[in-house]
Amino acid sequence: MGRRATAVLISGSGTNLQALLDAARAPDYPAAVRLVISNRPDAFGLERARRAGVPAVVVDHRAFETRADFEAAIEDELRLAGIELVCLAGFMRILSAEFCARWHNRALNIHPSLLPAYRGLHTHERALADGAAITGCTVHFVRPELDAGPILMQGVVPVLPGDDAEVLRRRVLEVEHLVYPRALALLAGGRVRVEGERVQLIDEQPGERLVLHPAFSAPPFTRSHRG
Ligand code: GAR
Repeated sequence: MGRRATAVLISGSGTNLQALLDAARAPDYPAAVRLVISNRPDAFGLERARRAGVPAVVVDHRAFETRADFEAAIEDELRLAGIELVCLAGFMRILSAEFCARWHNRALNIHPSLLPAYRGLHTHERALADGAAITGCTVHFVRPELDAGPILMQGVVPVLPGDDAEVLRRRVLEVEHLVYPRALALLAGGRVRVEGERVQLIDEQPGERLVLHPAFSAPPFTRSHRG
C-alpha cells in the first residue's frame, strides 16, 4: 500500500500542520501531505506548506454565498489532488453533515481538550475555571456534531500551579504535536476500525491510544506517594 494522500485544513498558525509535515518526512510514514487548504488568506500555515514544498490553496469562506458553495470549492481541491484522508488542524469552520458524510471515517480533527469535556471554544479557560487537575487534547473522527465523533487518540497534560490559559494552551499544544502524527499514522497505516462509533485498533497494545505530556516523567510526577 502506498502512502495515503492527505490534505490538512487550517485557519491559522499551523503548528499541528508542521508536526504532520515533519512526521511525513520519514520514508516509512504511511501518509503524505499532498495539499494544505486554508480558509484564511493570512494563515501562517500557508507559509509552512510553501517551505515544505506542499501545494497550498486559499478557499476563503467570505468569497462564497453559502456554506454549500464554500464546501464544493474545498471538495474540488481535494478531488483534484487525489486526496484520500483529511486532517482538520485548527480549521475554524463548521462542516456540513453532507461533507462529513462524504468523508465518513476518512477525516480527523484535533481538539484542545479531553473530549467529551469542553467541546467548543475557550477550553483552557474552562478547565482552569473548573479547577481541573488534568486536561489535554483529542484526535477524533469528524461528525456533523461539533467536536464529537469516535475518539482515536488522546494526549494528557497536567494543569500546574500558577497556570494561566496561555501557559496551558502552549503545554497542550506540545502534546497535540505528539498525538496528531501518531493518530494519522494509525489511520493511514490501516490499523483503525470504527465499530459502533468506537475506535478499535488492529493488534492494539495497551496505552497505544494515549500520550502523556513529558511533564509526567519529571518530578514531582515521578515521586512516590511518600514524597
Ligand atoms: C490547536 O490547539 C487545535 O487543537 C485547536 O486550534 C489550535 C490550532 O493551532 N483547534 C480547535 O480549537 C478546533 N475546535 P495550530 O494552528 O497551531 O495547529
